[in-house]
Amino acid sequence: MPDKCTLHIGDKKFDLPIRKGTVGPNVIDITELYKNTGYFTFDPGFTSTASCKSDICFIDGDKGILLYRGYPIEQLADKSNFIETAYLLIKGELPNRQQFQEFSGAIKNHTMVHEQIRSFYNGFRRGAHPMAIMLSVVGALSAFYADSANVNDANEREISQRRMIAKVPTLAAMAYKYSIGQPFVYPDNELDYIENFLNMCFSVPAFKYKINQTISHALEKIFILHADHEQNASTSTVRLSASSAVNPFASISSGFSSLWGPLHGGANEAALKMLKTIGNVKNIPEFIKRAKDPKDNFRLMGFGHRVYKSYDPRAKIMQKACHEVLEVSGKKNDDLLKIALELEKIALNDDYFVSKKLYPNIDFYSGITLNAMGFPTEMFAVLFAVARTVGWIAHWGEMYSDPENKLNRPRQLYIGKDKRDFIDISKR
Ligand code: CMC
Repeated sequence: MPDKCTLHIGDKKFDLPIRKGTVGPNVIDITELYKNTGYFTFDPGFTSTASCKSDICFIDGDKGILLYRGYPIEQLADKSNFIETAYLLIKGELPNRQQFQEFSGAIKNHTMVHEQIRSFYNGFRRGAHPMAIMLSVVGALSAFYADSANVNDANEREISQRRMIAKVPTLAAMAYKYSIGQPFVYPDNELDYIENFLNMCFSVPAFKYKINQTISHALEKIFILHADHEQNASTSTVRLSASSAVNPFASISSGFSSLWGPLHGGANEAALKMLKTIGNVKNIPEFIKRAKDPKDNFRLMGFGHRVYKSYDPRAKIMQKACHEVLEVSGKKNDDLLKIALELEKIALNDDYFVSKKLYPNIDFYSGITLNAMGFPTEMFAVLFAVARTVGWIAHWGEMYSDPENKLNRPRQLYIGKDKRDFIDISKR
């Protein structure tokens, strides 16, 4: 493998270093390109651009491989738990028993939020989208935890990371409770992370909520599957906003904003809505036809991925969890599941989807699963974001430990007017 390549512009030649990854594509280092040539590169959507170096997560989109710190997602979903996976993503190695206890104990110590935060919720109309609430209350944490907002202090960064992982589920459950008009439920540190979250979402003062182990294991898997996905839109947003050295709560709130869109974290909500709109297996051909029509902007939600050009490995695990949850919730003959399975079968045998390498992604089955667990569609993106907070915070920490980290400031290809003189309004 060469360690440099040569760029020819006119009769000039420029050497560009090649940097090697452990696995995956190597990169042509263009950091000195503008200085040496006067040219920028152009890559809208970052389809060929590595925006940073990272050792957290690796995806091989052609082979359908996803690794967190080298560990295959299938093994983590099967054998690990969410807090252990969070430790792995943030620290780089699996914890020993003592490290795990210290870490999970520290997260538990931070599960409560300041009482004043409750009043923010009252400002929203009932029925407000819980993601709209989350954007605000996560950013509002900046006003309460200024003592750990110094991004240049490794100790304060660690406290912020733990606070964020601990408090985001509390805020998310409060957003849900507010949207349905039920009282907030305080965290219960006797419970583990996932059980506590389910309890804050589903228990009411009138009777004790009994946690179903199948549901709680399935949610644990869903959280592990969603915890990180290298430089996706929301993680890149967190990195970009954090590059200005803003406090961590503001950066993470920008991650929530980016994740909410239907092409990213809003896709599971959109996928479930689509299955409901299809309504019956016999209507599938009509929707497949629409998805293939270039004049129609309808897309099969939960299908296709920027990186995966084969089956999303998370979708396989999700499909299994979906069957388990539907079984315990008495919905194994669910119409939506029947439509999803048939839609998948038809699309996977259709030339359009095969030639464009469009396979089901994680969101195809997660909507049905979360719905069967009792979460309304509006909460789907919130659940995704609660899990992804771990990935965001891991990348945020990595960024600050990287000596090459600097303010992110992309350039552009300007296609507007050249300099011209102002014309008075009377003469326009
Ligand atoms: N249904 C029908 N056609 C599709 C779909 C789809 N779901 N996805 C892509 N295409 C077509 C698209 O029309 C285009 O066709 P052509 O080359 O003829 O113009 C071609 O496939 C390539 O699409 P693209 O939009 O250029 O590809 P992309 O890499 O920018 O898009 C995507 C990736 C995820 C935005 C897209 O596949 C999509 O919109 N999927 C539906 C939304 C969805 O499920 N998003 C969740 C992604 S997974 C969750 C996450 O990790 O955040």
